[in-house]
Amino acid sequence: MEKTLKNDLFLRAAWNQKTERPPVWFMRQAGRYMPEYWEIKNKYSFLEMCKTPEIAADVTMLPVDLVNIDAAILFSDILVTPEAMGGDLSFEQGVGPRFANPVRTWKDAEALDAGTVDKLQYVADAIKVIQERLNGSIPLIGFAGAPFTILSYLVEGKSSKDFKLTKTMIHNDPKLAHHILQKITDLTVDYLNLQIEAGVNALQLFDSWAMALTWQDYQEFAHAYTKQIIERINRKNIPIISFARGSSVFYPIMAEAKPDVISLDWNADIAAVKGKLPEAMAIQGNFDPIILYADKPVIKAKIHELFERMKDHKGFIFNLGHGIMPDMEFDKVKYAIDVVREYRY
Ligand code: CP3
Repeated sequence: MEKTLKNDLFLRAAWNQKTERPPVWFMRQAGRYMPEYWEIKNKYSFLEMCKTPEIAADVTMLPVDLVNIDAAILFSDILVTPEAMGGDLSFEQGVGPRFANPVRTWKDAEALDAGTVDKLQYVADAIKVIQERLNGSIPLIGFAGAPFTILSYLVEGKSSKDFKLTKTMIHNDPKLAHHILQKITDLTVDYLNLQIEAGVNALQLFDSWAMALTWQDYQEFAHAYTKQIIERINRKNIPIISFARGSSVFYPIMAEAKPDVISLDWNADIAAVKGKLPEAMAIQGNFDPIILYADKPVIKAKIHELFERMKDHKGFIFNLGHGIMPDMEFDKVKYAIDVVREYRY
């Protein structure tokens, strides 16, 4: 690291060191559970928020200022990469993301352009503004969607329950799926290098829909590309976190891609998984986010119970198995973070 951070708990844990307490940050920590997020969101569209560096920085800073986490995450979306490739993306309230031009044929795939990292310059600009605002207090996490999850959005054109079209493509025309996955991978490598150049302190890859795949298909259509990304990016001294829903099953394959940290969903026993990972690999997770709907004494007891199980392990970052839900109570999210911050091993 070129500069020392005031609070480097997150980075020390990511490098598999023992820390005095687990560092904490949450996926979707800047979002709709915060009244202050709505104040900004009521004025701009979601994509405007992502594409205007000052606004993206304002939103990134909300949880830094309001809930005191140990790492900030860039405010953006995994779908900015497929948009840069030519996807006609919109976000509608209550509907979620949509691509008006889904990619289902070779002709559709040919229209995707992987040489478009310049279109994502606004993300680099946002990172620079955020780092000025953070001013060395805590690390900033950059991120991208993992290729399989991005493929699924391009093919389905929206979120899906069963990934029928994507899975039918990988079964009926695996060459086409590989062709698109390779294009996504190429742009993602350029995009993560752009984020590294702009000054992020860590990176996370989100494979949110990996759990839809079989063991063999995960290997061929997800892992192969995640591995390529981790090998090809110019990582300098930056830890990379590999997140997948499905990681309770796939972590042995995920570990073969050699991320520095595996982010675990909530199904598996995190202490048991940590014990099976390669010696230097850290772990992040794996609190069931739905516990944040429970009463405060329950939240506290379940966090302490998780920490008790992890007390003999180094390299542990506390996080949720998946993101904060929009209807969660701000007060309970903040409470959970306070419980972590007051804890000592
Ligand atoms: O975590 C953070 O605070 C950083 C910002 C961030 C967002 N999306 C903001 C966002 C990150 C890291 C993401 C990643 C993302 N986006 C993922 C992977 C993580 C995961 O949840 O598995 C995925 C699958 C997406 C795609 C996406 N973007 C969906 C499905 C939606 C709609 C969700 C919904 O509930 O409506 C989005 C929009 C989105 N991305 C919002 C936010 C804060 C909500 C936008 C709004 O305010 O309406």
